[in-house]
Amino acid sequence: MPENIEKFLNRVAEAAEKSALVKMTLSKPADKRDDLRNVYVKPVLIKEKRLFAFTYHYERRDEVKNYDAAQMLGTLREMLPSRFQNAVLFTVSEDVTLLVSSKGKATIQTKQVQENREQNLEHDKQKNRLINPANPWWYQLGLTTREGKITADMQHKFKQIYKYAEIVESLIKPMKFNGTVHIADMGAGKGYLTFALHELLTQRLQMEVDIKGVEIRPDLVLKINEIIKADGLKGLEFVESSIEAYHPEKLDVLIALHACNTATDDAIASGIKAGAELIVCAPCCHKQIRQEMERSGRFDAITRYGIFLERQAVMITDTIRALILEYFGYKTQVMEFIEMEHTPKNVLLVGRKTSKNAKDPKIAQQIADLKARYGIESHYLETALGLKF
Ligand SMILES: C[S@@+](CC[C@H](N)C(=O)[O-])C[C@H]1O[C@@H](n2cnc3c(N)ncnc32)[C@H](O)[C@@H]1O
Repeated sequence: MPENIEKFLNRVAEAAEKSALVKMTLSKPADKRDDLRNVYVKPVLIKEKRLFAFTYHYERRDEVKNYDAAQMLGTLREMLPSRFQNAVLFTVSEDVTLLVSSKGKATIQTKQVQENREQNLEHDKQKNRLINPANPWWYQLGLTTREGKITADMQHKFKQIYKYAEIVESLIKPMKFNGTVHIADMGAGKGYLTFALHELLTQRLQMEVDIKGVEIRPDLVLKINEIIKADGLKGLEFVESSIEAYHPEKLDVLIALHACNTATDDAIASGIKAGAELIVCAPCCHKQIRQEMERSGRFDAITRYGIFLERQAVMITDTIRALILEYFGYKTQVMEFIEMEHTPKNVLLVGRKTSKNAKDPKIAQQIADLKARYGIESHYLETALGLKF
């Protein structure tokens, strides 16, 4: 082994020994066709042990392995220079760069650092986070860079799923389940919320789950299932189906984030029919009720103004959804789950099943009155449930 590579490894060993290793990168594959593009190393604290997390960035997936100092040095010895020709060691006081030429000549450059650096043992901190953006699926789903940084255009989406997951956690934590918890994310799209819930429930709450992402677009389902397989995630699967055609045998929790127009109604109907204990929906665009109101021509002082008609239609749509949930014995809350700047579609309907005697005629009357007042023939959720108030 060239002398300078030995020297570089000695610097790594020294930095590890003194807890001065901040991070390390291995890049420039010796073979350009190598599927492994680069490796990122950082110190972590796991169960009080100082280890080194190697994130292997492959062409289409990432893999993380934790090593102790001896294993780390052994692994570096195997990869330098046969797999990688560049390596940079960042310590609290200097950057050490190893460059290997195509002829195998190795050189080392050292640069003192001016700023105050310290070793950051991230692992324990991240364990307490609801969602860890450094997990490989976030990059694969397009939410983060390879290094686990949320990309600029996904900041709002990340905040939405983080808040949503936070609320779901607070709702699920006090609940009692018998064995595996069955969850469906209706209109799961690219799976951001589905993966967030899977991560939260399995990694943070250590629950056994069976999460299905129900999505009508086959291309998405195929792609997401490939990611699930590549990452070896258990208890998570995407199902190609319309919400209306999906009839789970067992369903404890139903969630939906921005399922388009009446797809939210299909989702709520499916949760009610399956007897889900918890239903959490953030509705998307609303068209059906506005069209009914326009058709009836029954405008009042508020709805004669187009923009207020629009807003009133949204409120009526969601009020009737909430009332129908109540009618079926769900204790229902309507709240804003996130600030408007992250999404204007920020209303959340939460229904928790109670043992209350359902089908209260007073609620049925309230729904019927609301419909009559605005000339609404039927709300789509009634239709989906085969009802008419
Ligand atoms: C606005 S996206 C939201 C995706 C995801 N829930 C999120 O918030 O990131 C709505 C998704 O619902 C899917 N969708 C719409 N109607 C559906 C239906 N009836 N059955 C199944 N999926 C549906 C669409 O294909 C789309 O991917």
